[in-house]
Amino acid sequence: MAIAVWSCTTHKPETQMTETEHARYRQAGDTLTQIAFDAIRKQLLMKLQEGGVPAALTYCQAHALPITDSLSQRYGVNIKRVSNKNRNPLNKANKLESFLIRGYENDLHEKKNPEPRLVLKNDTVLYYKPILTQALCLQCHGTVGQQITEEHAALIQKLYPYDKAINYQLNQVRGLWQISFLQSRSDQPR
Ligand code: HEC
Repeated sequence: MAIAVWSCTTHKPETQMTETEHARYRQAGDTLTQIAFDAIRKQLLMKLQEGGVPAALTYCQAHALPITDSLSQRYGVNIKRVSNKNRNPLNKANKLESFLIRGYENDLHEKKNPEPRLVLKNDTVLYYKPILTQALCLQCHGTVGQQITEEHAALIQKLYPYDKAINYQLNQVRGLWQISFLQSRSDQPR
């Protein structure tokens, strides 16, 4: 199994991918993650406004995965969110992803821009982009007794008994977007 990781800021990856291919996947990944982020954020804000944190929590449990799944279908790729401190057990980061998350944490620590990365895995191109926390997120991913009320913490615990996604602060790496371009690499994103 061939895996290559490189930063988009370095010029020549140690694989056969040309710079044009690289730029196209990077562009497609940037666009798709923006679309997916906007879709989830829009629903989240709407539910928060309608019914506060409890309504938004139950909505996310029922709809977060269906939203990324339906976008995946629409665009012919596989879009998901993963985390080393995951809330939904289905979003658990694998070894490589946890490694990338640590790299991004390091970037933030050193005040470097955490740039998206492409990873080649056999014939699949994987695009990864860090998901950073904003003030809004801490209502459900912050600290219990501070941004998360006791009541909301109890609901989170009820919905997700194995939740690890709390105790985040502002501008930390909450997880990664992963876009997997399912086609063989000769079929480039359009
Ligand atoms: C209303 C509560 C709420 C808010 C606010 C919220 N989240 Fe979440 N978040 C959740 C829930 C619930 C899940 C689990 C969804 C599922 O079951 O697929 C989740 C899952 C995630 C995941 C997927 C990985 C995992 O842990 O399962 C990421 C990444 C994430 N949230 C990032 C964010 C970011 C970034 C923000 C702010 C822009 C944010 N969340 C705001 C409730 C929230």
